[in-house]
Order: sequence, then structure tokens, then C-alpha cells
Amino acid sequence: MSTATAKKPLPPFPEEKHWLFGSAYLIRQNPLTQMNFFIKKYGDIFSLSLPVHKVAIASSPEFAKYILLDNNKNYTKSLAYDLLKVLLGNGLLTSEGDFWKKQLEELTGMMIDTAEKTSEKFTKYAATGEYFNVLPEMTALTLDVISKAIFSSGVDDKADMVGKQIAILNEITMEKLRRPVRMPAFIPTPFNLRERRSLQILDDVIYQIIEKRRKEGVSKNDLLSMLMDARDEETGESMDNKQLRDELMTIFIAGNETSSNALTWTLYLLSQNPEAEEKMIREIDEKLDAGVELGFNTVNSFQYVHQVIEESMRMFPAVWSVGRRAIEEDEIGGFRIEKQTNVLIPLIYLHRNEKYWDEPGKFKPERFAPEKRNSIDRYVYFPFGGGPRVCIGNNFAMLEMQLIIIILYRRFRFRLKPGFSVEGEPMVTLRPRHGMMMNAVNK
Ligand code: HEM
Repeated sequence: MSTATAKKPLPPFPEEKHWLFGSAYLIRQNPLTQMNFFIKKYGDIFSLSLPVHKVAIASSPEFAKYILLDNNKNYTKSLAYDLLKVLLGNGLLTSEGDFWKKQLEELTGMMIDTAEKTSEKFTKYAATGEYFNVLPEMTALTLDVISKAIFSSGVDDKADMVGKQIAILNEITMEKLRRPVRMPAFIPTPFNLRERRSLQILDDVIYQIIEKRRKEGVSKNDLLSMLMDARDEETGESMDNKQLRDELMTIFIAGNETSSNALTWTLYLLSQNPEAEEKMIREIDEKLDAGVELGFNTVNSFQYVHQVIEESMRMFPAVWSVGRRAIEEDEIGGFRIEKQTNVLIPLIYLHRNEKYWDEPGKFKPERFAPEKRNSIDRYVYFPFGGGPRVCIGNNFAMLEMQLIIIILYRRFRFRLKPGFSVEGEPMVTLRPRHGMMMNAVNK
């Protein structure tokens, strides 16, 4: 411990706490409200008392930049992520360079076809006027898109099942975080069994696809082939099925749940803001009526659609907080961050903070107009994270969401079921707790 930092105090500990499990327990019970309360009372950095772990919540743009970018070497995620990044160094999901651009260009047609299929399906709902839950529909759609990008083929009939298992695993992960004490994984409690069963179903689907590809013996232009063709620089070895499965699972989960939640929140926000909805529909209709062909080179000309999605991710960021662990002791904002402290950055708090936004509770896509966009601080608005561990699927996700919104709103508007209660549930991703019951109305 350096003498310079040894003298610094730890970030303040809230006095409000559970008698046994500490203040973190209160946050687990009610993450968003409790976090806001603590930040207001204790400042931009404070500690959480927990029986075993050291946790600090850092919530200013300066601290976020410092942790994610300036001193990122001292703040780690996990080994699994490092491995993934190495493998994807020149991969489908790399966020820069021509290779990335070419891949996305090739994926655009598939994304359009897949979204058209969903739009076709919605015509049935529009005909009967029935209310349906749009969340699983968006999950099935984004799952289909990501699996086609990974495997060149959809998981087809298995999509429903895979979507369900991913939702269960998300719930289980959050439940694990909530439970201060839990049984080790090898004990067959109903909770552990449920997790094992879900993982098993997902594994089976992925292994089946890997095996099929090995038998076919052909290399396709997708992520699976890219990973199968990759060779370790030192040993020259390729990945075994287990390694392949781990890589694919990460992308499967990171690329599905996030986009489907973001899309669902966008449909909801548009339904509550008819003026913005009207303006967006006008843009879509004018362009398409004028003969603009929807594709990779034209999608960004739908400027207002882009702004709507950005504003929706400001209010409901699918990844609502990011976490890192301090490798060595450090100092932030005059406080000592002990080695092994888990530092959490609640980006939703920055996205909704009146210090940085005018009327943060209002849906105003105009904030993201091109002439204003550059003046938004990179660490006040960062739905895809920041620094070297920024989301590697961000361009993929933006392209996918823009295409889907354009295709759906070419035909429909979506209306929330009267009286339906909408509530954000900050699990691993921020999702609508009760789903989203809406109907599709023909334009
Ligand atoms: C609306 C959609 C999405 C949002 C909001 C989102 C958000 C994020 C954020 C905030 C991170 C950083 C987490 C951290 O710093 O701890 C991240 C990482 C990641 N995302 Fe996304 N993501 C989205 C879509 C996607 C898609 C479509 C893919 C894959 C095609 C993807 C793949 C990944 C991967 C692999 C990482 C880990 C990168 C690393 O640690 O090096 N994401 N995402």
C-alpha cells in the first residue's frame, strides 16, 4: 500500500443498512431508487457494506472515464472477456475497420428479411386487434438475427426455446446477486437444477450446430467458421468444441437480450409520445415513397429513426450499469479504492441526471440531432460502455435496430394496452418487468 493513498479515507459508507447483509442489501431490493437516494446523500462515490466483497459506486462522468478508459489497466472484467477479445481481434464483431464494414454490409439483407418476417406475422395481430406481449416477439426476432450472423442459419423452431432459456438464465443470475447466501452449484436445489437445465438446453442447441458444421467440412462467411478457422498464434491449435461453445454463448447472450429490450422500450416510448412517433413515421414514409431502397448505404439517412433509438437508450439503457474490479489499490476523487474493490458505474443515473440533461424524464429525440450530438459528453451518455471494453456489437446493434424500426413502422403503430403497468426491472439488463402488452395498428 503506498503511503500516499494509505492516508486517504475510504469512500463514505451509508448509514442505512440491513443489520446482517449491509447497505448493498437495500440496493439489491430496489436498485434504481436506492442508488439515487445514496448518490444524492453520499456523493459521486460511496462504498457499500457487504459481508465479503468490497464495493464502491462511482457515478460521475469523470470517474466513469477514469475507470473505463484512463486507468483501465487497473480495472479488470474477467478472464473470459479477455479471451473473447483476443479471439475477435479481427473478427466479425470488431468495432472498427473495413473488415467490420464489409461484414455488416453483407448482413444487412439478412436483417431486413428477418424483420420483414416479423412484420408479416404482426399483420395477423393487426387484423384481430388483439393485445400481445412484444418483448418475446422482439427476443425471437433479435435471436434469429444474431444466430443467423453467427451460424448462417437461424435456430428456427428452437428460437422460442432458446429465448426462454436465456430469459431464465438472466433471472437466475440476478437472483444469485440478490441472494446473500446460496447453496453451492453441485447441491441439487430446485434453483440450481433450474439453472443446470437451462444451460443444458442451450448447450445442446449450440453443440448440435458445431457438430453439423464439422461434418459438413465447409467454411462459411459467419462467426462460427471464423472461430473454427482461428489458430492460436503460439501453438497453432484450433479451438475445441467447449471453447467454441463459450465464445458463441457470450455473443449469443450479449447480442440478443440487449437489443430486444432496447427495441421493446423504443416501441413503448413511441406509443407514449405520439408527436415523435408521427415525425418518425413521416420520415420513413417520405423516404420509402420517394423510392429510397432500404439498405446498408441508406439506413443512416433515416436520421430521426437514429435519434429515436439513441433517446430510447438514454432513458432505458439495456445495460444499466457496468462493473470493474480494481487490480491494485487506487485513488478516486480523494478516496482510497482498495485492491479487489468492485466498482460499479450506474450509467442509467448519468443518462437521467438533470445536471446534464434538460428535462431528463421527457422523451426528446431532438437532443440527438446531428448539430447537438457532438456536444454530449462521451461519459454522460454511453449505452455501449466506453474505453477498450466498449461493446463490440455496437454497430451491429444500431444497424439491426434501425432496420427493424423502419420496417415495423412502415406498416404499423403500436399501442399500449390500457391500464397495463410498465415498470423497469434492472436485472442483468434493464427489461420491462411484466413484458409489454401492445397491439399493432395498421397505419
Ligand atoms: C442495444 C444493444 C446493445 C447494448 C445496449 C450493448 C451494451 C454493451 C455494453 C454497455 C457493454 C460493455 C459492458 C462493460 O463495460 O462491462 C457491452 C459489451 C459487449 N457487447 Fe454489447 N450491447 C448491445 C448489443 C450487442 C450485440 C448485438 C453484440 C454482438 C453481436 C454485443 C456483444 C458484446 C460483447 C461480446 C461485449 C463484451 C466486450 C468486451 O468486454 O470486450 N453487444 N455491450
